[in-house]
Amino acid sequence: MGIIVNGSLFTLHTKNSTYQMKVDDKGVLLHTYYGKRTDETDYSYLISFADRGFSGNIAAARGDRTYSLDYLPQEFPVCGSGDYRVSCLNADLGAGVNDCLLFFDSYRTYRGKYSLEGLPAMFAEDGDPVETLEILLKDYKDDLYVRLLYGVFEDHDMITRSVMIENKTGQDVKLSRVMSTCLDFSDKDLDMIHFYGKHAGERQAERLSLFHGITELRSTRGTSSHQHNPFVIVAKKDTNENMGECLGFSLVYSGGFHVQAETDQIDQVRLVMGMDDSDFLWTLYPGEEFTAPEVCMTYSGSGLGGLSRSIHDGFYRHLIRSPWKDKRRPVLVNNWEATYFSFDGKVLLDIAREAAKMDLDMLVLDDGWFGKRDDDYSGLGDWFVNEKKLGCSLKELSAQIHEMGLSFGLWFEPEMISEDSDLYRAHPEWAMVVPGREPIRGRSQLVLDMSREDVVEYLKERLFDIMDSADIRYIKWDMNRSLALAYGELFPRERQGELRHRYVLGLYEVMEALLARYPNLLLEGCSGGGGRFDAGMLYYAPQIWCSDNTDAIERLKIHYGTSFGYPMSAVSAHVSVCPNEQNGRVTPLKTRGICAMQGAFGYELDLGKMTEAEKEEVKVQVKTFKKHYRLFQFGDYYRISSPFENGDFTAWEYADREGKEACLSVVFTDLHGNPAPHIVKFEGLCKEKRYEVSRDGEPLGEFSGAALMNGGLLLPMPRENYDSCQFYACEK
Ligand code: DGJ
Repeated sequence: MGIIVNGSLFTLHTKNSTYQMKVDDKGVLLHTYYGKRTDETDYSYLISFADRGFSGNIAAARGDRTYSLDYLPQEFPVCGSGDYRVSCLNADLGAGVNDCLLFFDSYRTYRGKYSLEGLPAMFAEDGDPVETLEILLKDYKDDLYVRLLYGVFEDHDMITRSVMIENKTGQDVKLSRVMSTCLDFSDKDLDMIHFYGKHAGERQAERLSLFHGITELRSTRGTSSHQHNPFVIVAKKDTNENMGECLGFSLVYSGGFHVQAETDQIDQVRLVMGMDDSDFLWTLYPGEEFTAPEVCMTYSGSGLGGLSRSIHDGFYRHLIRSPWKDKRRPVLVNNWEATYFSFDGKVLLDIAREAAKMDLDMLVLDDGWFGKRDDDYSGLGDWFVNEKKLGCSLKELSAQIHEMGLSFGLWFEPEMISEDSDLYRAHPEWAMVVPGREPIRGRSQLVLDMSREDVVEYLKERLFDIMDSADIRYIKWDMNRSLALAYGELFPRERQGELRHRYVLGLYEVMEALLARYPNLLLEGCSGGGGRFDAGMLYYAPQIWCSDNTDAIERLKIHYGTSFGYPMSAVSAHVSVCPNEQNGRVTPLKTRGICAMQGAFGYELDLGKMTEAEKEEVKVQVKTFKKHYRLFQFGDYYRISSPFENGDFTAWEYADREGKEACLSVVFTDLHGNPAPHIVKFEGLCKEKRYEVSRDGEPLGEFSGAALMNGGLLLPMPRENYDSCQFYACEK
């Protein structure tokens, strides 16, 4: 039983964790415990009460100055309650101030998992050990209800939370902040690990100590963004990769977000996470509901590695829906870095012909196949095939590619509009631009108002039309700028603060419709590389282009950071040319292959321009990936050595769950004269089993699991800059 209710005490258990809350004698829902699995003791005895100067007292506590929401641990703190810490809800019930005050109303539990209309969320299949708890809170005076939703995934140490605000007050309610989760910790000695970045340098791992005051991460860009990621970890000071306690928080949402961690006056920490509220103002009319996106919380008592593996597995089973999650992903070649906008049908067919010879599975036609689009100044929105440029129809192109034994994929950037496009000329009002004012351009393009039903319908119609016109098995869904002013012509002035969220709802509506109509389509997310790499996107796209930076060495850090919160099968990674197009670095083809095999593997170069020796090497890489794809896609992922800490090499490993086989990859990142020896140790094997071990296909000998895990293996000396090797251990 995941959920145990005892009077006013709610205890949620997963395999290794327990979460508890309690309705106190005033009717306030307090948070009493989250951590290592324990019993159903009422942990509210740990809360201390004192008269703290300048902390407000609610009316229900009149006469008792030791009762203040300003220091009590709560499940859903609201602004205006005398709690001056970061809160979850700003709701103006009519007076022009945020004066809502919530008390317990009722609860219900049921088997299975709640879902959220129009929003991505974790799901459960029949029979999964998953339960839902709904707790209804109500304003003490007005009929404003807040429904707190808890999904308990016992097997994965995951608890999801979401919030629905229900307006039964009979008058408009203004919401200017709705956070999806709040977690109050009684301990201040905590670190936060977060993943900052930039275009072509996403998800760099950074660990910092929380301090008195507010640590804040957010994206105001309308997307989850390159700059910050809606996934953070809160860890005890002594937690490392292999041991210690930590909690992961993932927002299942692809728009802007906000995370705050506040250490308060009495050394407690509060963490809140939810949608970006910087520009948010939502009018909730009588009878309406507002649903906030889901946050998925994961507990680990076995370090950061254990946390990541729980998340990988939990997301794989309960968030990613695509049938492709169970199938080997196609090894594809994408023409972007091979040709950019300069291609015709013949150039594409030449690349496809080479790809077929090397046993690749798919050719993906990137940007430039539609409208007038020979550079990035025009054409977006005109989703009509440029047959003149291709020299044939898309149907013919796709058919010829299929005849070669490859399948065909296509790039789209549906959310955008170029001013130089027929669509803009017909519908300038569809762009998010304030009439009569200059637009803010990004990559010389404007953003479509995805909150409009006519825009959503246009995009569905164009996508379906193109999809029906040819045999297309994969779509890369790109998005190449941040939102600046989120303006929608159809909304009055006082409701413009709804546009950012409505944009995301429109985006999800089109993606949902696309997948409903083409359930076997492989959708790859992308936003100028990894600018929208988030749990929300995984609900639609089982893989996401991880970065526009294809340099194998910079990718080590990007992959490392991404692996904390996302399954590596979702990390789309390609081998590209040298010198690298983004940073000019030269790396061996072998290393580029090993690095890209960490995720959904492919190529992004003109295969025809490779030397014969390189082509032979590509064949070996493709063969290796296909041979071990089960390990790479479904194996447990171990970060063996960090590119942020070890300057000499980075290593990672995939091990199958039964300890039958493992593949450990190493990339050297520095060279030394008279170098020190280095050893790597395997993880996830069975100590008592015996393994046949090879290195880059050459037999190394037979070892016990104990030897490989405790003793390890000596690394070969690197023979050139950015050399690499791959060990493979297979049970005898
Ligand atoms: C950004 C993507 O990340 C690239 O891979 C490529 O598709 C370009 N956009 C095309 O404009």
